[in-house]
Amino acid sequence: MKTKVHGSTFSHCMPIRKNLVVLSGAGISAESGLSTFRDSGGLWEGYDIKEVATMEGWKNDPKRVLGFYNLRREQAYSAKPNKAHYAFAELETVFDVEVITQNVDDLHERAGSTNVLHLHGELTKARSINDDNLISEIGNKAIKVGDLASDGNQLRPHIVWFGEMVPMLEEAALIVNKADILVVIGTSLVVYPAASLINYAPKHCQKYIIDPSNPELFSFEDWKHIKEKATLGVEELIMDLN
Ligand code: OAD
Repeated sequence: MKTKVHGSTFSHCMPIRKNLVVLSGAGISAESGLSTFRDSGGLWEGYDIKEVATMEGWKNDPKRVLGFYNLRREQAYSAKPNKAHYAFAELETVFDVEVITQNVDDLHERAGSTNVLHLHGELTKARSINDDNLISEIGNKAIKVGDLASDGNQLRPHIVWFGEMVPMLEEAALIVNKADILVVIGTSLVVYPAASLINYAPKHCQKYIIDPSNPELFSFEDWKHIKEKATLGVEELIMDLN
């Protein structure tokens, strides 16, 4: 049997489907028009992390924090998935694909990926400031000061702020640990514990990194670096996997 993904034909002669795990960061959504954090002109040049992405920042000025994430939500809502997001969705026809994303946008889902784990939360959800488990879907609606969760407490963005636990980390590590192929795409790998996930890849795993620049602190031993932007990089990846 043969399957076509992005113009490349995959022959299915193996009885067992391989696990392809994607670890994505802001760079995969850059060609959809969403800013990365640390590139030149990135979000952290225009905003102070402490002011908009910490509990301390929230306590000092919740309106500023809400404004920051309301703008992110509005921009993500107007953005469209790009070829890289679509490619990973299409690869589900050939591999068991699990996407672990640090991104808070929903472009992987909108491209059709069915297994997406958000390490740093999701813009389309909000939760009670007093109960991490009281999560509600808000779609593209802005959150305002005075908007309350069902427990009567203020809603906050369902985002992991700096200094907070990453509740999905253990689950993500188990997924990486089963990877036959690991694709790291569009992340500077400087934010922990997310960056530590690559260490859970098993020995036999084929490892790719797609990024136009050299992610810092990264040793390329056993990794294939596809030094391209996401949309071109996935085409090269697919040819290589073929
Ligand atoms: P960064 O902004 O740190 O890194 C973006 C990476 O994408 C860099 O390595 C760029 O070279 C690369 N890049 C830029 N354009 C690209 C393109 N068109 N195609 C492919 N790669 C491209 O973003 P993240 O690594 O995602 O966390 O940042 C990690 C976390 O830091 C975020 O989840 C966020 C942030 O603070 C929280 O807010 C908790």
